[in-house]
Order: sequence, then C-alpha cells, then structure tokens
Amino acid sequence: MNDELLRYRAEFPILERTTYLISNSLGAMPRGVYDAMKGYADTWGNRGVRAWEERWWMLAAEVGDQISALMNAPKGTVSTHQNVTTCQAVIASCLDFSGKRNKVVYCDMNFPSVMYFWEAQRAQGARVLMVNTDDGITVPLDRLLDAIDEQTLLVPVSHVIFRSSYLQDAKAIIEKAHKVGAYVLLDTFQSLGTVPIDVQALNVDFTCGGVLKWLCGGPGVAYLYVRPDLGNTLEPRLTGWTAHQNPFAFETGPIRYTDPPYRFMNGTLHIPALEACRPGLKIINEIGVERIRQKSMRQTTYLMDLADRKGWRVNTPRDPQKRGGTVSIDMPDSQEVCRELLKREILVDWRPKAGVRMAPHFYNTDEEIDTAVAAIDAILHERTPA
Ligand SMILES: Cc1ncc(COP(=O)(O)O)c(C=O)c1O
Repeated sequence: MNDELLRYRAEFPILERTTYLISNSLGAMPRGVYDAMKGYADTWGNRGVRAWEERWWMLAAEVGDQISALMNAPKGTVSTHQNVTTCQAVIASCLDFSGKRNKVVYCDMNFPSVMYFWEAQRAQGARVLMVNTDDGITVPLDRLLDAIDEQTLLVPVSHVIFRSSYLQDAKAIIEKAHKVGAYVLLDTFQSLGTVPIDVQALNVDFTCGGVLKWLCGGPGVAYLYVRPDLGNTLEPRLTGWTAHQNPFAFETGPIRYTDPPYRFMNGTLHIPALEACRPGLKIINEIGVERIRQKSMRQTTYLMDLADRKGWRVNTPRDPQKRGGTVSIDMPDSQEVCRELLKREILVDWRPKAGVRMAPHFYNTDEEIDTAVAAIDAILHERTPA
C-alpha cells in the first residue's frame, strides 16, 4: 500500500530504534527540535536580554497562531500556558460561582487532573455535577445533556476520552449548553492533531489542550482558545503583567487588560518549551489533520480486528466516527504485558480500566502494529504454564 505519510518517518529519530505506538501519551520528537533548542541557546547566549524584544515576547502569539490554524480559529485567539490544568484555572478565574448559576457539569471520564481542579472549586461556590459512565467506555450523552440546565455555568469536557478514546458529540453538548446559557470548555488534548476540529463551526466558547501528544510538541505548552466575542470582555483573575496593556510601564494598582491572546496569560512566558514545540506543529500543519484522521481510522480498525482475532477485550468504540486515535485493549495480566512490551522496545502504556493503550500516528507502519500484536501474543504464551 502506498502510504504517503510514511515519508515523515525520517523526521523522527526514535522510530529507527523503537516500535513507537504511544503518541496518545508523548508524541515522537521531530529531528528539528535539536536545531530549535540550539537556536534557543544561541539566542539566549548571544543576544542576552535583548532576546525578549527581538523574539521571545512574540513567540507565544506565533505558537498560538500555529495551533489556531489546526482548529480553524482566527489568528490571535489562542494563548499558551504550561498545562491544561492551568488553562482550566484561567477560565475558572473569569467566572463567578457565587450566584445561582454555579453548576459545573462533566462526566467521570474526564481527565482526573481537570476533575481535581473543579472539585477544588467547590470552595469558590461551584456545584460540581458529575455524570457517570455506564460501560467505562462511553459517556451517556442524554444524561449529560439533561444535567446541563439553567443553573449551569460551565461544561468542561474532554472531546476524546483519554481512557477509552470515545469521541464525544461536541456539537450536541455545545448546542444544549448555549440553549440554557452555559459555556463549554472543550479539552481537545486527545483529539487535536488526530481528529479534525473546527472551533468556529462548533461555536465552542473555550478550547484547551496540550501539544505533547498528537502534536509532537513536547511537554510545557498547552493552548487556550477563547471565542473572539468573549475574548475582549472576560477578565481573568488569574492574571499578571503579561496580560497588561503596557507591561513595561510597571504600573501599580489594578491591571488594565490587553487584548487576546496575551490577555489570558499571566507571568513570564515558557520560552524553551515554546521553541521546542514549533517543529512538531509545523509538520502537523503541513500534513493536515484530515489526512492523519483517514490513516488513523484505518489503522485503529486494523488493530481492533487483530485484537478481536486474538480474543482480547477492546475497550474503545467500534464505530470509527465515535473514537479518536487510541485503541485500549485488555488481555490477561495486561499491566504485566505492558511492562514486557516496554522491555522489548515496543512503547505503549497501560491505564486502569482501559488496559494497554496503543496509538498509531501518521508516522507508524502497519508492520509496527503487527509487531506489537505478535509480541503481546508471545508474552501471553510465555506466561501461560505449559
Ligand atoms: C484529555 C486530557 N486532558 C488533560 C490532560 C493533562 O492535563 P495537564 O496538561 O494539566 O497535565 C491529559 C493528559 O493525558 C488528557 O489526556
């Protein structure tokens, strides 16, 4: 089969040494990161403090625009932060939980860090309502929609569920939320880069995620999209001098907010991480998410078929339209199997209530999937007493 995307393999050194099926956790590092980090050191080393004015201050906006291109967001609407939990905190700090409209609605399949954050907001008056999954794979859409009512302020939900790869119906959630006057904060960490997203078509209020998984951008950069009409009115209380109209005036007293994207940032920017993420974002932009999605649907189907033939339990939706790029597969002693795979240079991970998670990305071959499945089979046979 002629798979054009395989020509990008040469850009990712780790693919020469390992079977890399773990882009749902940490995308492979592009070769270009070596030059990017050298460039960072040279800039710091040679330009010193002048680097702020010449390059670093604007870097966050430039990276934000590279990310906005992937989700059809207008330029200047995406700010960068260290992680998704901080993005959620920035949005929480724009909202008032002291009134009657103070409900925060999500499902127990959300990423735990985000749930810990929202649980902690009860102290600020937030009433958290968590809808429970029935099967450990999907989110009960009707129950989630019913829970979103006139007292709901925010619906912070994952687009693709980290455990099962279930792809939520973002459109239905956003429509219901808007009907009753609530906001939606869509966590696209597990979707952007492998599932096409159009924030304008969705009319979503806020979108956040990180670049270290499907965007091959490394740790330390998360993104926050704020719908343009909200961007100029919201006033984050988690703020700082980066969000000031004139940061170098060092004024005393309350902040005078600048425009997005800097309006939603706060302290000194995360420059090394911003430099490191650019090569990955460039490659994903060049390929286009639609092509990645087509390949991903084919390869995840292929992987599920192999798992079925072996009789292993697949904890990911069968319908390709209802899943992201990961396949969670449970087999006997799956945690131990995962440890063995890692020893054999087959990089995957294991999560409770999911099993072994395998995530082929645009740079993976079908043969790598075969290799992983054959290795699991061999490990299981070795573990079974004769
Ligand atoms: C859906 C989702 N949200 C958030 C996170 C991580 O959040 P943070 O960037 O705060 O560490 C992950 C990480 O695996 C995730 O899968």
